[in-house]
Amino acid sequence: MNLFRIKSLKSLQNEAAQEGSHTLKRTLGSGALLALGVGAIIGAGIFVRTASAAGNYAGPGVMWSYVIAGIGCAFAGLCYVEFASMIPIAGSAYTYSYATMGELIAWIIGWDLVLEYALGAATVAIAWSEYLNKLCQTFFNFTIPYALCHSPFQTELATGLHGMINLPAIFILGVLSLVLIRGTKESANVNTFIVFIKVVIVLCFIALGWKFINPINHAVIVPPNEGGDAFGWQGVFRGAGIVFFAYVGFDAVSTAAQEAKDPQKGMPIGILGSLGFCTILYILFSYVLTGITHYKQFSSSGPGHEAAVAYAIATNMPGYTWFSNLITVAVLAGFSSVILVMLLGQARVFYAMANDGLLPKMLAEIHPKYRTPAKANIVLFIFVALFAGFIPGDIVGDMCSIGTLFAFVLVSLGIIIMRKTNPTAPRPFKTPFVPMVPLLGVAVCFFMIYHLGWENWARLFVWLAVGFVIYFGYSIKHSKLNNR
Ligand code: ALA
Repeated sequence: MNLFRIKSLKSLQNEAAQEGSHTLKRTLGSGALLALGVGAIIGAGIFVRTASAAGNYAGPGVMWSYVIAGIGCAFAGLCYVEFASMIPIAGSAYTYSYATMGELIAWIIGWDLVLEYALGAATVAIAWSEYLNKLCQTFFNFTIPYALCHSPFQTELATGLHGMINLPAIFILGVLSLVLIRGTKESANVNTFIVFIKVVIVLCFIALGWKFINPINHAVIVPPNEGGDAFGWQGVFRGAGIVFFAYVGFDAVSTAAQEAKDPQKGMPIGILGSLGFCTILYILFSYVLTGITHYKQFSSSGPGHEAAVAYAIATNMPGYTWFSNLITVAVLAGFSSVILVMLLGQARVFYAMANDGLLPKMLAEIHPKYRTPAKANIVLFIFVALFAGFIPGDIVGDMCSIGTLFAFVLVSLGIIIMRKTNPTAPRPFKTPFVPMVPLLGVAVCFFMIYHLGWENWARLFVWLAVGFVIYFGYSIKHSKLNNR
């Protein structure tokens, strides 16, 4: 029994070169890949977490939080591109680590990616449910009963009402799973349309809000520390861990590498392009948001702690109520595209793991007509719906962030190892300054993991422990490498 058996680069590249009715279809061009990235990136992070990080930890210094998190992602992103253009097959970080660090580490990463994609989708579905409620209130004067749109672990302070199940979150997951089963090309088309609306709304907010910036709100960019993680640079660092969620998803592009028409060209454009574009948008967005509204109003006890962007417009941009309503609608559409890409990414990771025998074979079966991993989509829907329906959003959100950061660490290390084990393999894109760039990626990601606090470290450990039980109970025996 060899826990560190490695899948050879050659066999991975052979898999990538295979075409046929049992494989995924290569339909995505560079533009669609870029849209896929932006679709996954802009979501609950910018519209929800920017204000909460500013109000509770960083003040206007949340701009710096975005810069720090963006730098960490850029280092990791450069590593992702080298791998994705070299091994353009489904599975992303999981597949790369199988080729570099062996089966056990690959399993850990694959299992860890569930935190990123499945729980990322659950988190955004929960945020979607909140905004749906806001939409119902604004346009139809109707409120969804508290019990039917909150988890059993939530209680409304003012009324003492308890949550039971988050039905709207489960609903949106179901609809988008059906879209995915229908076909990747169709999913990408829906996505491209939504991404367009989302980007236009963010740009409009920046352009319209700019002239309402009150210089007093920006008089101090990093407010003095108030103890613990509250403000000061300590708060900016804590804020980086929080807004990191806003970047989660750029790597989802790499999970679709097997469906890219020209992965060598499409992967760098999709991954680095979407990351760079969103970083600029985020910094401008947080500048305007904290400029038109004083950050204290976004604190947990402040009047703008929910639907902060709509609040900021309604209170500080006179004459733009229509825009605040429009934002609510656009946010709903925008969240849908994030969920779509997360579900797509997760199903592809399941597909890759099942193909290798580490998960049951049915997860790698391709639908005969639609040529999508339909069964994986159904299993995934049930799994994600359990989290979205019954666990509070902030818990699943932080688990998503820590899982993603951990995956980034392993991918960055993987680049260094791959350069040693396969020095001559063709690399259409080379990460610059190896090992410095990957090591800096590791350092910045660990820095953010550290600032996420011990509760989240503990959740990550428990998750990995469950993964070990499954690996040693099932996967190790069914691994295709084992049976060879
Ligand atoms: N980056 C994605 C979001 O902010 C996960 O919703």
